[in-house]
Amino acid sequence: MNILWAPDYPAMSRKAANIISAQVILKPDSVLGLATGSTPLGVYRQLVDWYGKGDLDFSRVHSVNLDEYVGLPPDHSRSYSYYMRNYFFSHVNIGPENTNVPDGMAADLDAECERYDRLIESLGGIDLQLLGIGSTGHIGFNEPNEDFDKKTHKVRLKQATIDANSRFFESADAVPRFAVTMGIKAMMQAKKILLIASGEEKAEVLCRSLFGPVTPEVPASILQMHPCVTVVADDAALSVVL
Ligand code: F6R
Repeated sequence: MNILWAPDYPAMSRKAANIISAQVILKPDSVLGLATGSTPLGVYRQLVDWYGKGDLDFSRVHSVNLDEYVGLPPDHSRSYSYYMRNYFFSHVNIGPENTNVPDGMAADLDAECERYDRLIESLGGIDLQLLGIGSTGHIGFNEPNEDFDKKTHKVRLKQATIDANSRFFESADAVPRFAVTMGIKAMMQAKKILLIASGEEKAEVLCRSLFGPVTPEVPASILQMHPCVTVVADDAALSVVL
């Protein structure tokens, strides 16, 4: 595992964006696993900036997002589908038909989960998976104490996650209680993983994930078993590690 320190959020974002850029430059038809939330916003901003300067070409890239809330349509401003279009997809030349986010509105969610796993497989798996980390240690929406070998599935969000994500909604009551998430299995099958973290509130869980026991109680701890993980974190997020 490679742990890269950055002094602050902008530097962390640039470093992570550099790694994604290198991936796309070296393999223009990369399959990128993408994340939402507040942490990757700076990464997407940076990628959009470099794309605007002519340094990047996403025309042959495919993307698969980690997760989506159940019950939010793609045009809902809090849906992850909307987030991806708003902050990234609509600002670069990735073909909309090459972008994928689980459908949280599917009438048959089990079938949707199976479809998503088949889709990832049909793309040949993920070349580079971008991950954030939740305060519970979740990756995607794989909350503590779920099986590490689960495929894409529906999850009930932990109260801590609902509380943390309520900042994006009018109130905690408005946060959907369920989500569809890529399973840890598909993430672990990604050729490379890039975990980003920022801020003091992530420091303890990041330290437990990187150096504590590998346990479903801390989902991100499974990353210790992956052969090619790069962690890019700012000074505050690494404050317990350092
Ligand atoms: C988002 C996702 C989540 C977030 C995590 C951290 O697609 O899968 O695991 O990465 O909740 O969120 P932020 O970055 O908002 O702290």
